[in-house]
Amino acid sequence: MLEVIGLSHAYDDHAALAGISFDVRARELVSVVGPSGCGKSTLLRAIAGLIRPAAGEIRLAGRPVSGIPAGLAVVFQDYSRSLLPWMSVRDNVMFPLRRRALGRAGRRRAADAALAEVGLAEAAGRFPWQLSGGMQQRVAIARALAYRPSLLLMDEPFGSVDAQTREDLEDLLLRVRADTDMTILLVTHDIDESVYVGDRILVMGRAPGRVLADLAVDLPTARDRIETRELPAFIRLRSAVGRLVRDNAPGLVAGGRSAPDARSGHPQPDRPG
Ligand SMILES: Nc1ncnc2c1ncn2[C@@H]1O[C@H](COP(=O)(O)OP(=O)(O)OP(=O)(O)O)[C@@H](O)[C@H]1O
Ligand SMILES: [Mg+2]
Repeated sequence: MLEVIGLSHAYDDHAALAGISFDVRARELVSVVGPSGCGKSTLLRAIAGLIRPAAGEIRLAGRPVSGIPAGLAVVFQDYSRSLLPWMSVRDNVMFPLRRRALGRAGRRRAADAALAEVGLAEAAGRFPWQLSGGMQQRVAIARALAYRPSLLLMDEPFGSVDAQTREDLEDLLLRVRADTDMTILLVTHDIDESVYVGDRILVMGRAPGRVLADLAVDLPTARDRIETRELPAFIRLRSAVGRLVRDNAPGLVAGGRSAPDARSGHPQPDRPG
């Protein structure tokens, strides 16, 4: 479905991606983890056709990406700039559906169903600026899901929601993956989450980004937020990813790499909060 071949990118003379290659099969959910600044958002921007990479190629269903591909939805890291402030929450979610032959009532039903899925049925008539950050982020997620894209790119989509809602949204993502044909690329800082929702995990090294490891998530497809996390295979994988990220993250301590037990170099295997 998606092929990234030798992708490199630089902003002016600052290298952001250095030869990234990987494939994603249709209906796979691939988690992408890596230290801050390693180029995860740059990678998604290139796949979305928003920037032209300096080198390499991206193919979707065999065809090179040039411009924004059809059937793509993106949940941006900066959700606060992704909603249209003059439109109600419902109209924001309906907006990408405007060219679908659903009729206004059908578009409204699709939007309301997606809002209900992210727990925001009550907020449909409000405006984005009347919602908390975490609620705005969920509107952006609902808008992407209502669109039923063939490829969904999510950049830290659960970053500002509370821990309980985050678990609900992770389970929503697992349902979407089971019930639809979407292929999903999920960038997350949360190693636990990358394992829980993923079929595969791409671990990126410090900038300029490259793929350090491409790990299969060898867990049963049906997942449970408590029981899955108790499985030895889950714990092993979470530790393996945590070590890769820790040992390749740039230290925040002066003088280069921090000791593994220094706070700045800790891999944060568990979600914050
Ligand atoms: N528009 C830009 N202009 C110049 N440099 C940029 C731009 N966007 C990103 N960069 C730089 O490119 C590198 C990769 O940035 P990117 O946003 O892709 O990282 P990231 O992995 O998404 O980080 P984070 O986890 O903090 O979101 C960083 O060093 C960043 O400073
Ligand atoms: Mg980013």
